[in-house]
Amino acid sequence: MKVIVHSSISLDGSLLGFAVDMAAHYKIAAGFKAGIHLVGSTTAAEGLRMLHRKLPREQEKDLVKPKANAKLPLWVIPDTSGKLKGKLHMLRRSRLCRDIVILTTNVTPKGYLRYLTERNYDWHYMGTRPLDYANVLELLAQEYGARRILTDAGSTLNGILLNRGLVDELSLLVHPMVVGDPRAPLLGDVQPGIKLKLSKSRSVAGKLWLLYHVLKPGGRK
Ligand SMILES: NC(=O)c1ccc[n+]([C@@H]2O[C@H](COP(=O)([O-])OP(=O)(O)OC[C@H]3O[C@@H](n4cnc5c(N)ncnc54)[C@H](OP(=O)(O)O)[C@@H]3O)[C@@H](O)[C@H]2O)c1
Repeated sequence: MKVIVHSSISLDGSLLGFAVDMAAHYKIAAGFKAGIHLVGSTTAAEGLRMLHRKLPREQEKDLVKPKANAKLPLWVIPDTSGKLKGKLHMLRRSRLCRDIVILTTNVTPKGYLRYLTERNYDWHYMGTRPLDYANVLELLAQEYGARRILTDAGSTLNGILLNRGLVDELSLLVHPMVVGDPRAPLLGDVQPGIKLKLSKSRSVAGKLWLLYHVLKPGGRK
């Protein structure tokens, strides 16, 4: 299995504070042909807030699991506190994913589990919080045949995965912008000394795309 962290950053390594070239970002993302996208709950909630000032109401048809479309990725979202309760129908409707899977733990509110069950979303209980992403990858391989997983997340989830030795590739679209804001660094709380090997570099629509292999001497592989 391969895990790829894909992010757009400013020249000074910020995830926020500049206009991401969404077309280039998602074109590169699609090129990885990952069957599963691991999406941060904050990223998903913020994406919805940006797209809909007022969230359209849920309808009867939103409760039905969509017909499987193997061409679309499955979005897997760790959302232990139920941040996305009442909002998932808009992700399901987006037609950007084949459906949504939620990861829960012992702290997940019962009302959220009911909400998920009544709407036919797959959800998986991952034990006590904090979630162990090595177990998550194993589950995704067993249940969904995951072979390639792409992250769509901020510094929190990306940092956790990197620290756990679970990331194989780091894909960065570097935008020609100096944000000068250290509040949203590419990776949060990472261990020092993570070694990378540059495997590709290319100019994409006036930005620089860099692909690194993460070298893991004592890691997963
Ligand atoms: N520039 C880019 O390419 C790019 C890409 C994606 C996102 N972003 C931006 O990044 C920001 C969001 O980033 P973020 O770092 O705040 O959040 P995030 O990575 O989107 O979400 C955090 C995720 O980590 C999980 N988590 C948190 N603490 C954990 C722990 N101790 N153990 C295991 N799992 C844990 C959370 O699950 P729970 O909900 O269960 O806590 C959640 O799913 C947004 O502003 C978004 O726009 C930028």
